[in-house]
Amino acid sequence: MKNEDINIKKLAESKGILIGAEIDPTLLEKEEKYADTLKQHFNCTVAGNHMKFKYLEPEKDKFTFDIVDRMINFAQKNQMKIRGHTLCWHHESQLPDWILKKELTAKELEKILVNHIQKVVSHFKGKVFAWDVINEGINHQGDGLRKSNPWIKAIGEEVFDIAFHTAHQADPDCILFYNDYEIETINQKSDFLLELLRKLLKRGVPIHGIGFQYHYPLEKAPSSGEVLKNMKRFEDLGLQIHITELDIWLKMPYENSKLIEQANAYKEAFKAAINCKSCKAVLTWGFTDKYSWIPHFTKGAYGDPLIFDKNYLPKPAYYAICEVLNTIPKH
Ligand code: G3I
Repeated sequence: MKNEDINIKKLAESKGILIGAEIDPTLLEKEEKYADTLKQHFNCTVAGNHMKFKYLEPEKDKFTFDIVDRMINFAQKNQMKIRGHTLCWHHESQLPDWILKKELTAKELEKILVNHIQKVVSHFKGKVFAWDVINEGINHQGDGLRKSNPWIKAIGEEVFDIAFHTAHQADPDCILFYNDYEIETINQKSDFLLELLRKLLKRGVPIHGIGFQYHYPLEKAPSSGEVLKNMKRFEDLGLQIHITELDIWLKMPYENSKLIEQANAYKEAFKAAINCKSCKAVLTWGFTDKYSWIPHFTKGAYGDPLIFDKNYLPKPAYYAICEVLNTIPKH
């Protein structure tokens, strides 16, 4: 098959898996190549920032949906499914000042979260098929809940019940996810998460899926075997799995041979995904090296983590993923 005939979207669909990418929705209208590449190669998308708390509710109980509504129109026109990201998260860059800068009681915080989830999930009802309800609720060392999340700090574990039940009532058909990083393999953090989920599911919290963010520098990228072994533990709880933010970072500057190693690391992620029947979607965090959070996050130490280069040309990783999709039997 000639390279120009290979299409990751068609291959993924033939295997019953969604292939997606995180985007900046404002670029869809600014950069034709950005929009064209997205719709040609992906059947799922998620806003990197514009569905986070402060973007949707910049002022208390005043919601701004226009940018995301336009993104959803684009996605629907191009038969793309939309993931919602994220209703409850600690990162202060996406919390509005009217929450960050005020001393709020647990009761006030609970009311704010319930209202936010009710209004947002209802607004996108029937258009967003999956929500990251709580993002990164476990602390970085993986041995407790994250106290820098204002709701977790004030309410504790009960915030899971509140957030997921509220989202489920607002859209009973939406698949509700817990999303986190460094939970892709068996380790302290994924062990902690597994026990937490067992408890929550036992008391009827409507958590339907787990999002493995899958952010790795190339040298730390896991094997498909390690990931699959861990995925099965969550599958055994009856949960759906999405790889939600896949990117494999290259230490800058790098020799071209690193692009092949990067391609192999992407292959491992897709081998795990395709071999786990509960893994229904794989999304990269961005899709072109032109726009990635990694150079800023790593202060330039790492870059070029994605499957299209800065000129929107497919990299070895793109073809490596197609190779895996081509050889693995349908679910
Ligand atoms: O929009 C403002 C701009 O007006 C201002 O001039 C500029 C000053 O720094 O900041 C801009 O906001 C930035 C925003 O991205 C939009 O570009 C924030 O500072 C910056 O912190 C924010 O970073 C985002 C980060 O989440 C924190 O929200 C990244 O783009 C986004 O890719 C990243 O995504 C997260 C997922 O939500 C959760 N998983 C990890 C992943 C990577 O951190």
